[in-house]
Amino acid sequence: MTQIWSPASWRGKPIRQVPVYPDPGALDAVETRLKTHPPLVFAGEARSLKARLAQVVEGKAFLLQGGDCAESFAEFHPDNIRDTFRVLLQMAVILTFAAAMPVVKLGRIAGQFAKPRTADMETQGGVTLPSYRGDNINAMEFDAASRTPDPARLMQAYAQSASTLNLLRAFAQGGYADLHNVHRWTLGFIAGSPSGERYRTLAQRISETLEFMEACGITPDSTPQLRVTEFYTSHEALHLGYEQALTRIDSTSGDWYDTSAHFLWIGDRTREASGAHVEFCRGIKNPVGLKCSPSLEESELLRLLSILNPGNEPGRVTLICRFGADKAGEKLSRLIRAVVREGAALVWSCDPMHGNTITSHTGLKTRSFERILKEVKTFFDVHRAEGTHAGGVHVEMTGQNVTECLGGAQAISEEDLSRRYNTHCDPRLNANQALELAFLMAESLRAERLKDARFAASA
Ligand code: PEP
Ligand code: CO
Repeated sequence: MTQIWSPASWRGKPIRQVPVYPDPGALDAVETRLKTHPPLVFAGEARSLKARLAQVVEGKAFLLQGGDCAESFAEFHPDNIRDTFRVLLQMAVILTFAAAMPVVKLGRIAGQFAKPRTADMETQGGVTLPSYRGDNINAMEFDAASRTPDPARLMQAYAQSASTLNLLRAFAQGGYADLHNVHRWTLGFIAGSPSGERYRTLAQRISETLEFMEACGITPDSTPQLRVTEFYTSHEALHLGYEQALTRIDSTSGDWYDTSAHFLWIGDRTREASGAHVEFCRGIKNPVGLKCSPSLEESELLRLLSILNPGNEPGRVTLICRFGADKAGEKLSRLIRAVVREGAALVWSCDPMHGNTITSHTGLKTRSFERILKEVKTFFDVHRAEGTHAGGVHVEMTGQNVTECLGGAQAISEEDLSRRYNTHCDPRLNANQALELAFLMAESLRAERLKDARFAASA
């Protein structure tokens, strides 16, 4: 029989990736304070996102999820928020135009702080200290005080999430995202690059289309979707004390929602069916993601789906596959077949980042853009072969001109990496690489659309 769920029931389950706080009483006090703080999102918004994701399940929309690997206190600046937002908008426009279907925009932002780590401790020069676990837990500098988990950081992360979300809401609703601004979203440093040029041509076509539509009477006044956009937020539900503190009953439905973000995901390292993270996520009604590496077997996936989505509600679960370019093909088709056999409703999303991380000869963590493209291409090819919808993509990217991933049109080399390597965790695509990736996906989505149109015509 299913056990009773409560926002605290995860506390009775085995848990991984927990920071060791020197003063558990201080952590309790912060979590108690957070319980009195306003929710960051409304339950109704999470329900709207679930409905959008249900369209992805049906093959009628595409999911674009992206942002930093880890947000940081140091990089908290309105320009950084704006630049990430506008690259996501640009990618969404490229994809919408090619696929002729809505693109669901979901930021890894306004709460993406906590990081799972392979090792609990890190040793440098004979000194061993706790690993860095994200700015909401400890600091990256390698000294004992910085690495000691400090609960006050949860309050700072909450405040930063609230003001980030406030600005994102203003951008999405206040005119910045108006499609008539499609030319203005280009960042200065990509204007002359090949993807920048390609984007300019596309923006020109969109502007002409808008003029034509206006001549036909379709204006921002009659069609507000031209002026505003829907933008949702997400992060890994890793620090369960924080997530519990923000989990509230929605007065409309009487259901529990985690109001720290619209969408929460379970990381690859914390996805045991009997563990605390799955327990927490099974009871919240938000749409949830499940990350999976090649170690996820079909039977285990079906078990997790029965726990997280017993009613098989479309849009409730997004499977974020991060297999690595070489394993993606074989692994993905096996999982797809098992899910199709079971009739499980699922958004299939591809995270081409986490299975393709390598260490460069200079010691920096990096990813080759070519491998990233290869995994995305494999994802589309396998779905086409299986007759299922390649539903979305999950990327670590930034609007900044960083040098963290190798290759792309700028041909970033191992020697270039240290120039602008600013990430607090994993290497991100820069704005140029993000647009290049969007153009590649656009071609695949267009091919999917034309194939469907041909099929419909011959049926
Ligand atoms: C991440 O998304 O940054 C992450 C840690 O992913 P995964 O759980 O897939 O390793
Ligand atoms: Co990451």
